Amino acid sequence: MSKPTVVLAYSGGLDTSVAIRWLQEHRDVDVIALAIDVGQGVDDLDEIRQRGLDCGAVESLVVDAREEFAAEFLAPALRANALYMGKYPLVSALSRPLIVKHLVRVARERGAAGVAHGCTGKGNDQVRFEVGTMTLAPELDTLAPIRDWGLTRDAAIDWANARDIPIPIKKKSSPYSIDENSWGRTAECGILEDPWAAPPEDVYERTVSIDEAPADAEELVLRFVAGLPVALDGRELPLHELVDEVDRRAGAHGVGRLDMIEDRLVGIKSREIYEVPGALTLITAHRDLEDLTLEKELAEFKRLIEGRYAQLVYNGQWFGPLKQAFDRFIEESNRAVNGEVRVRLHKGSAFVVGRRSDDSALYDLDLATYDEGDLFDQSLAEGFVKLWGLPLRTWAATTQRRGETL
Ligand code: ARG
Repeated sequence: MSKPTVVLAYSGGLDTSVAIRWLQEHRDVDVIALAIDVGQGVDDLDEIRQRGLDCGAVESLVVDAREEFAAEFLAPALRANALYMGKYPLVSALSRPLIVKHLVRVARERGAAGVAHGCTGKGNDQVRFEVGTMTLAPELDTLAPIRDWGLTRDAAIDWANARDIPIPIKKKSSPYSIDENSWGRTAECGILEDPWAAPPEDVYERTVSIDEAPADAEELVLRFVAGLPVALDGRELPLHELVDEVDRRAGAHGVGRLDMIEDRLVGIKSREIYEVPGALTLITAHRDLEDLTLEKELAEFKRLIEGRYAQLVYNGQWFGPLKQAFDRFIEESNRAVNGEVRVRLHKGSAFVVGRRSDDSALYDLDLATYDEGDLFDQSLAEGFVKLWGLPLRTWAATTQRRGETL
């Protein structure tokens, strides 16, 4: 009888490269390696595909999913202004469900018994892979070779070298653990584990330091339709290209560095360094346009659920019913988020300096102006204020009658 097959989420990096062999030796399975390009800046997908085979995979597949990632994962996150703990734009949390989708697709196409990932037992990504898989395909098993094995990085390198597994770095020097995609770049480990130690400059790749940022500001004009950016400086671009370009331009001004202590789902607090110039610039612009175009009650309610939305995504519930229901509400809420936003990039900041909307602005100069032509009827304000304050006046008078001080 032939061995069972598992489809491994393969990055081409150390952990998943050694995982291929380990799964064969210790779980007696055939491994299909599946690498997904989500904009992590790999130059050569073919090289990764070949490495998967060289490490022992029976089949090695690569998928360029950059467009899909932007359209199906970044778009809803942007419309939701999704920031975990009010700060982190969910870089890794967004790519994992996309990878899961493809793992499940390939597993079903090949009749595989399960899927596998290269996460340790300490992070969120294991949760996202496994909960994502059980939500899309409850019949599939998930294997977690790196978590089961419990190897340190150095030991993994020794183990691979002893077997001539062609891992990417043969020296024991890479100081950080990096995850990257079009929405940003994450860094952990090494000196970063001391939350008091300022991150060394060599952590950063997608942003310049504020010192190095140009003295002169630069402006971007982003045009949005239904809550999504469709053009940059008048040039229409597909979302994935637009995200890349905004990321590059904002990063060149030192925008988007985050240094934070994060609450992981597994209960640990960790120190994380993020570079998210494009994500933060786009969320800043999108929020501003919502302020211009969303009716007040809708805007308030949407803000109320945004944090919850980010938690669901962070915690691996991308495919769950609450997140899906939120997506429908958010999409509907953004139907008329149309218009343009001017964003100035300067010395580490991205800030909005102008916004307009031909068909959806709820800003009405005739109502807002303090100059000639004011159409706001101020005489109505007197009665309005009295009625608005009536509950408090009644409460205060009653409280005083009881002899209590206010
Ligand atoms: N802490 C971030 C998150 O949970 C980043 C995780 C990065 N993942 C990684 N395997 N290095 O989303």
